[in-house]
Amino acid sequence: MGDGEGALGLRRDAAVVIDAGRVAWVGAAADAPAADLRTDAGGAAMIPGFVDSHTHAVFGGDRAAEFDARMSGAPYTAGGIRSTVAATRAASAEELTARTRHLLDEALRQGTTTVEIKSGYGLDVATERRLLEVAARFTDEVTFLGAHVVAPEMADRRGDYVDLVAGPMLEAAAPLARWIDAFCEEGAFDVDETRRILTAGRDAGLGLRLHANQLTRSGAAALGVELGAASIDHCTFLSDEDVDALAGSDTVATFVPGAEFSTRQPYPRVDRLRDAGVTWALASDCNPGSSFTTSLPFCIALAVRDMGATPGEAIRAATAGGAAALRRTDVGRIEVGARADLALLDAPDPVHLAYRPGVPLVSRVWRGGVETR
Ligand code: NIG
Ligand code: FE
Repeated sequence: MGDGEGALGLRRDAAVVIDAGRVAWVGAAADAPAADLRTDAGGAAMIPGFVDSHTHAVFGGDRAAEFDARMSGAPYTAGGIRSTVAATRAASAEELTARTRHLLDEALRQGTTTVEIKSGYGLDVATERRLLEVAARFTDEVTFLGAHVVAPEMADRRGDYVDLVAGPMLEAAAPLARWIDAFCEEGAFDVDETRRILTAGRDAGLGLRLHANQLTRSGAAALGVELGAASIDHCTFLSDEDVDALAGSDTVATFVPGAEFSTRQPYPRVDRLRDAGVTWALASDCNPGSSFTTSLPFCIALAVRDMGATPGEAIRAATAGGAAALRRTDVGRIEVGARADLALLDAPDPVHLAYRPGVPLVSRVWRGGVETR
């Protein structure tokens, strides 16, 4: 992940020195400086810990029955979110914390060392606050998603719900969050409502992210670029104009192929983005409805098999790409000064992450220089 070979900047026969939680030195193993404690990786590949820039990891209940029905032909709609809202409102902060910890431990074992977490299954001021407080126990990358869908009890008063999200709910959320997100889609929020909510979030000091073009070629992607979002996520349906707009911007396109897998949507292709020089990321979108996976190795394999990515591009998208989507430069790469977030693979080459799909290849993980198991 430096100035080595290929899309990953791969170095062979290399060593990494960790000091005080940071990468202090990277180079040829033969030249490595003395260290207090040495670990021989035995020729195994080491990659940066994954940066999962899009999860909805705080929720109650599950929707296995909905998934089962979908696999028998039922379509995915935004409506399923409401059943998770009911289960989430019924769960205590302690229950939600335990569930989230379980999911994040699962992610860590698969190499994820940085995670973004959204609210969005509360949809009232008290529950959204509770979800953000739980998320903040696990990460600094906390995102307020009050604009996930209109709260069920306000279904026939959507204007009032938009006022609530952009007003009192945002006020309660802003001190706990770094980001604001919205689901701009048929069945959720339209472009005007989304613009209003994101603009209010920006005025409250939050950075912008957006669920865009997941189910339709809506105007959401263009809106995200126009407002200077750090990332527009899903991007299942992008027009050529959207790709051009992304190319001239600092906005990252984040793909979440676990959602295409679990909703049987077509996979987006990365070819046009590659040609246009757009930075793209891969994230899990871990949520109980459209993508109940914590595994970035799985997403990497999907991107290689079905989105036209090379293994190097896909691994880069799940590390440095995720970092770019969170506007972070301290994670997602192995270079001097970066946080020592490292995953060792039970494989001689990182390509194995896609070459050996479904196999648990992450053998050891360090976060901030500390081995996690
Ligand atoms: O990223 N698109 C909106 N939100 C989630 C799905 C939420 C759900 O179905 O519970 C997503 O796909
Ligand atoms: Fe999502």
